[in-house]
Amino acid sequence: MRKKVLVARRAPAAVIEKLSAQFDVDAVDGATVLTPAELRERLQGKDGVYITGTERITAELLDACPQLRAVCTMSVGYNHIDLAACTARRVLVTNTPDVLTETTADLGFALLMAAARRMSEGERMLRDGQWKSWAWDFLAGADVHGTTLGILGMGRIGQAIARRGRFGFGMRVVYHNRSRLPAQIETELAARFLSKDELLAVADHLVLVLPYSAESHHCMAAPELARMKPTATLVNIARGGIVDENALAAALREGRLAAAGLDVFEGEPQVNPALLTLPNVVLTPHIGSATMPTRLAMAGLAADNLVAALTGATPPTPLNP
Ligand code: DGY
Repeated sequence: MRKKVLVARRAPAAVIEKLSAQFDVDAVDGATVLTPAELRERLQGKDGVYITGTERITAELLDACPQLRAVCTMSVGYNHIDLAACTARRVLVTNTPDVLTETTADLGFALLMAAARRMSEGERMLRDGQWKSWAWDFLAGADVHGTTLGILGMGRIGQAIARRGRFGFGMRVVYHNRSRLPAQIETELAARFLSKDELLAVADHLVLVLPYSAESHHCMAAPELARMKPTATLVNIARGGIVDENALAAALREGRLAAAGLDVFEGEPQVNPALLTLPNVVLTPHIGSATMPTRLAMAGLAADNLVAALTGATPPTPLNP
């Protein structure tokens, strides 16, 4: 009997073709985002599911879908999946690391540049007819080249940001991570390990690239923001819940932080209204990995993972092998 899978968000045709060659595929269409109740309903009798970061896999859901054996997410982040609950129920979980590293680092750097150089603010003024003339201090922002780049979370994407900063912009790279990088990688990146407090104090530009968990929830709140230089830029390309957005908005409004670039939000797709009115924050709608080649690579990898997981092969990128 052919196994049954659910593709829980609209996916590229190649994914549906690949999965249909092996399984009976139930695929959502259009812009549908299943509610938790709809997801539970559509998962009845399914052996595997292809999801994105918008579907939550909880212990309750797993208990309601006992046939489910594989959860394959088209994302590197997996904070939307209760990994321990999956492991306890022998449900294989996979994600899509590596294929999005460089693309996401590009977006992180773009946000850093745009925020530091006040690009969105300038574009808004120009479009609103508010650009009156050249002036020596008009939209004068912060330099990026030759400054100190702080990175909180030095995994694959953090290291890719470090390479851009070090070799593209001659920046001094400092970082904090749960575990220190091997000396050889530190040397290659000319990256210096600091305590989190030291990192906050010295960074001219700080990029958040750490995984989201109970431990990292609001780990950038008022006390941490207060340690940063008032001239600094904060960039978040990880998960919105890492930053206390109200504290960030207050720091930006009161000039205790110069600028921010945010691709992720705690209540996305809703954005904290306090951020929306600030001129010194650049906002993008969670598009870190959004280039066509990268999204196709992520989708293909998620499909390969699902095929392997349900056919007894080893998935390319398992989270709980
Ligand atoms: C990821 O891959 O984790 C991106 O944030 C998209 O969800």
